[in-house]
Amino acid sequence: MTRVGVLASGNGTNLQALIDALNREGSSVQVAVTICNVPGAKALARAQQAGVATELLPSKGVTDRTAYDAQLVGLLHKHRIDLVCLAGYMRLLTPGFLQAFPNQVLNIHPSLLPAFPGMHAIRQALEAGVKVTGCTVHFVDEGTDTGPIIAQTAVPVLDGDDENKLAERIHHQEHRLYPAVVSKLAAEPFSIQGRRVMTQGAF
Ligand code: GRF
Repeated sequence: MTRVGVLASGNGTNLQALIDALNREGSSVQVAVTICNVPGAKALARAQQAGVATELLPSKGVTDRTAYDAQLVGLLHKHRIDLVCLAGYMRLLTPGFLQAFPNQVLNIHPSLLPAFPGMHAIRQALEAGVKVTGCTVHFVDEGTDTGPIIAQTAVPVLDGDDENKLAERIHHQEHRLYPAVVSKLAAEPFSIQGRRVMTQGAF
């Protein structure tokens, strides 16, 4: 059994997609805990509704990121977590955290990285006039959306798109891609060569 810990700060639609796809009878991969840094975030309610354990570790006003992340690691160990998935988690992770989970921390981002890293990827894609954008699942490193890329799905930018319309179509693809990647990484060997992640087959 691969026990997944999800870190979320907001709405949690990707958390929901992971739970819906993975937390089924007989599944060998399960979301075992959701840790949230924002009190009242919808992600917490989603996890509770699904019967997934939750932990709240408020980060507002926290300046010692190393100590905060050590607490996070402690919570993940308490829940015997093998794989960490960021799902709209709005904080950078410290080296200490990443050393505790080497090649075991994933993130999903709403662009075709390395284009448009950071908080405003969808708006920036529209402003840049690209005809294709998408979503990326990648390993997390200390940078902002800079870790090795695991899988991507392209999403066309259509005439008449605004941020909401494009976001909706990207989120739809995120909700398919993220659980597929998590299932595959948990079940099959992969290797990282330089910045390239080698998996067996497509997603
Ligand atoms: C997603 O677009 C994800 O790519 C980005 O943050 C957003 C989170 O949305 N990292 P949600 O909270 O999963 O609905």
